[in-house]
Amino acid sequence: MSQFQDLNTRIKLNPETYFKYDGGEKILLKNIYSEEGLSIKYDIMLILYELIHWKTVNELLEPWPPDDQQKILAHLDMLYDSRIVITSEAESATVPESGLSENLGKSIHINVENHHAMLRDYVRMAAYRRAIERAVTPQTIALDLGCGSGILSFFTAKAGAQKVYAIERRSDIIYLASELAKANGLDAQIEFLEGASSHIKEERLSPKPNLLVAEILGNGILEENVLEFTLDARRRFLAPGAKMIPAQLDIYFFAFDTGLIQSRKEEVDEFKDLYGFDFRLLGQVLCSKATTRMDRYSPMVHKTMSQPVLVKSLDFMTLNETAFANRFELVALEDGQITSFCGYFKAHLDEETMLTNSPWAPPTHWTHLIYTLPAPRPVKKGETVSMEVLYDGALRVQLMD
Ligand SMILES: C[S@@+](CC[C@H](N)C(=O)[O-])C[C@H]1O[C@@H](n2cnc3c(N)ncnc32)[C@H](O)[C@@H]1O
Repeated sequence: MSQFQDLNTRIKLNPETYFKYDGGEKILLKNIYSEEGLSIKYDIMLILYELIHWKTVNELLEPWPPDDQQKILAHLDMLYDSRIVITSEAESATVPESGLSENLGKSIHINVENHHAMLRDYVRMAAYRRAIERAVTPQTIALDLGCGSGILSFFTAKAGAQKVYAIERRSDIIYLASELAKANGLDAQIEFLEGASSHIKEERLSPKPNLLVAEILGNGILEENVLEFTLDARRRFLAPGAKMIPAQLDIYFFAFDTGLIQSRKEEVDEFKDLYGFDFRLLGQVLCSKATTRMDRYSPMVHKTMSQPVLVKSLDFMTLNETAFANRFELVALEDGQITSFCGYFKAHLDEETMLTNSPWAPPTHWTHLIYTLPAPRPVKKGETVSMEVLYDGALRVQLMD
C-alpha cells in the first residue's frame, strides 16, 4: 500500500538529490528507471517537474485517470524512499544509507539497473571477455575507458595485465567499481580515475597504456560520443601501436515498413484535446518531421523492405574524423512502402571476435536506432533508394531523392 494514503500530504522535489553531477554537468536525474520503462520514465519526468514547488499528492494526481494515478503513486513511493521526493524541508538533508558506504548512499545509487542489464547481457560479456583474454599479456598496461561497474577492468586484471587504468565519469559507479575491485583482491592492479576522459590529464597515465578497452556503445550507436572520446584517448593516452578493443565499428542500415500512416494519424489525434484545447496543428507540424527513436526492431513484427547495407566502417586505429557523411543505396525487396530505417552495429573487438546488435543475431541489451520518415516512400521491387548517413554529434540517415 502506498505511503501516500493521505492525499493532503505535501510533497516536493528534494533540492539535495534531484540534481546530481555527471561529468561536471548538472543533469536532472533521468536514469532512475531501467531501459524497459522508457515511456514511463518520460511521463514521470514531466510529473516530477510539477514538484519543483510544494504540492499536495491530490493536486499532483488530479489531472490523471485512475489507472495512471495508481502508477504515479507507486513511483512516488519509490522516489520518496530514495529521498528524491520529500514531505518536509527537514528530510532534504537525509539520504538513505545504501549499506555499502555513506558516500554511495549520498549519490542515491541510480543507474545501477543499466549496469546490471549490461552485466546480464551474456552475448556482450562473452565477446569482451574473449577479446580481452586474447589481447592481454604480462606486459599489458590497459586503459578501460568508461569502466562503469569495472567488469572489463576485472577481466583485464584477471587475464594477467600488469596494470589497468579505469576511467569513469560517474562518481557513484566508479566508487562502487573501486569497492568491488577491493572485494575481489584486484585493487593493487587497477587504478581508478574519476572524470570524463577528455578532462583527465595525460600525465596521470604513466606508463602509457598499450591496450585500450572501451565499451561506450549506446543504442544510438555513436550516441555516447564514442568517436570523440576514443580518438582523444588514442591521441593523448595510448602508447604508439597500442591495441584497441574494439578495433573497428561497422554501421548498417536497412529499410522497413511499420504501417506508418495509421500510427502518425493517431499521433495527430492525440493532440485533439490537450488541457481542453485543440492542439492538432502542433501535432501535424510534429508529424511532418522525420523522427529518430530507440526501439527494438523485430523481423517477426515489422516488414523488412531491404537487405542491410554497410553504410560506414570506422577503423579506430587510424580514424581521424569526428564527423562524416556517406552516400549509400538500398534495394527494395518487394512492392510496398518504406516508412522507416533501422540502424545497428557490428563491433569488431579483434580479428576473430565480433559483437553485434543486429536484429538477426542473438539478442543483446541494446535496442536499435529507428529513423522514421514524415511520409511513407512507395517502392517497387528491385527499386534503388538513394540515401545518406550523417554524423556530426548525432547519427541519422536521410533520403536523397
Ligand atoms: C556502456 S557503459 C559500460 C560500462 C562497463 N565498461 C561495462 O562494460 O560494463 C559506459 C560507461 O562509460 C562511461 N563513460 C562514457 N564516456 C565516458 C568518458 N568519456 N569518460 C569517462 N567515462 C565515460 C559512462 O558513464 C558509463 O558508465
